[in-house]
Amino acid sequence: MKKVTVIGAGTMGHSLAMVFALGGYQVALNDLSPEILEKSRSLIKANLDTLAEAKLFDPAQREEVAEKRITYTNDLGQAVAGTGFVVEAVVENVEVKKKLFSELDRLAPPEAILASNTSYLDIFKFVETSRPDKVLITHWFAPPHIVPLVEIVVGPQTSEQTVQTVKRLHDELGKTTIVIRKFLPGFVGNRMQAALGLEVFRLLEGGYASPEDLDKAAKAGFGLRLPILGVVKRMDFTGLDLVQHVLKNKSYQPPEVPGRSQIVDDLVAQGRRGVKDGAGFYDYGGRSSEEIMHERDLKLLKLRKFLEELGELG
Ligand SMILES: NC(=O)c1ccc[n+]([C@@H]2O[C@H](COP(=O)([O-])OP(=O)(O)OC[C@H]3O[C@@H](n4cnc5c(N)ncnc54)[C@H](O)[C@@H]3O)[C@@H](O)[C@H]2O)c1
Repeated sequence: MKKVTVIGAGTMGHSLAMVFALGGYQVALNDLSPEILEKSRSLIKANLDTLAEAKLFDPAQREEVAEKRITYTNDLGQAVAGTGFVVEAVVENVEVKKKLFSELDRLAPPEAILASNTSYLDIFKFVETSRPDKVLITHWFAPPHIVPLVEIVVGPQTSEQTVQTVKRLHDELGKTTIVIRKFLPGFVGNRMQAALGLEVFRLLEGGYASPEDLDKAAKAGFGLRLPILGVVKRMDFTGLDLVQHVLKNKSYQPPEVPGRSQIVDDLVAQGRRGVKDGAGFYDYGGRSSEEIMHERDLKLLKLRKFLEELGELG
């Protein structure tokens, strides 16, 4: 496989294209919008500069990776010609993805594998394809060029050969892959994060602690252990007899799913949607989202390097 195709050049797609290009592949990056394609080109260059600043990329290779290995195109036929692997990162909408997969099936070489980066959709229920053995989900985490995990979700008709080819492809890119054998919404990473999110809203709405204190508790408490012990090994350290006792007590009752949060509604109504507005739960002091994300990315890269040295990223 020499050529890879990424469809959708938004938040996820531009970064996915960059990861494949860094891995030495020729990449076609496709989007309906020429403006978004142009923006993705400059975002990729800015991401490469950040990697170079963290001493993880040779800046002399910037043009080679961003311009020679990646073709930016809004022609879907051209994007998939001669490709071996297609991953779509278009909007999370059933109709859009369904139509796109039909086009991909028609235009991509018959041996090409087709993947979706959907977060929650059961694509296996609605995708119409003549190659169901070559269709699966590869779910990345933002920012994809920094966070290693890719969840590979197997459909009822996906062949084992497809699973192994896709796993090897991503392993060789340096990603950490896990294979999820049956579809469930949110897979495993987002499900765990969503469960924690429900509790965060209960604590905030109930006035138990401030956003700052919840973040302190997460980062200086259980969060410090997470990269080393994960969520299961931690229980071996606690002692399974104690875990048994805690389970039996039923002292923790999960919150209901309210479907909304008054605090979030108020913040959004005030134009505080988070980093993109320079304010959300926190105030970012008038700094641009690029500046704030750059600072975050450098810290994440440092942490990732350290965890890699400890051998904790699998
Ligand atoms: N943002 C995240 O943190 C994240 C993480 C994991 C997975 N995902 C999933 O990845 C997918 C993309 O999310 P995103 O946040 O990058 O979205 P986004 O809105 O930033 O980008 C989507 C892009 O797809 C383009 N597009 C729409 N229809 C198209 C078509 N038919 N052909 C080509 N391009 C088309 C749009 O122009 C847009 O640029 C979604 O399925 C989402 O659930 C997102």
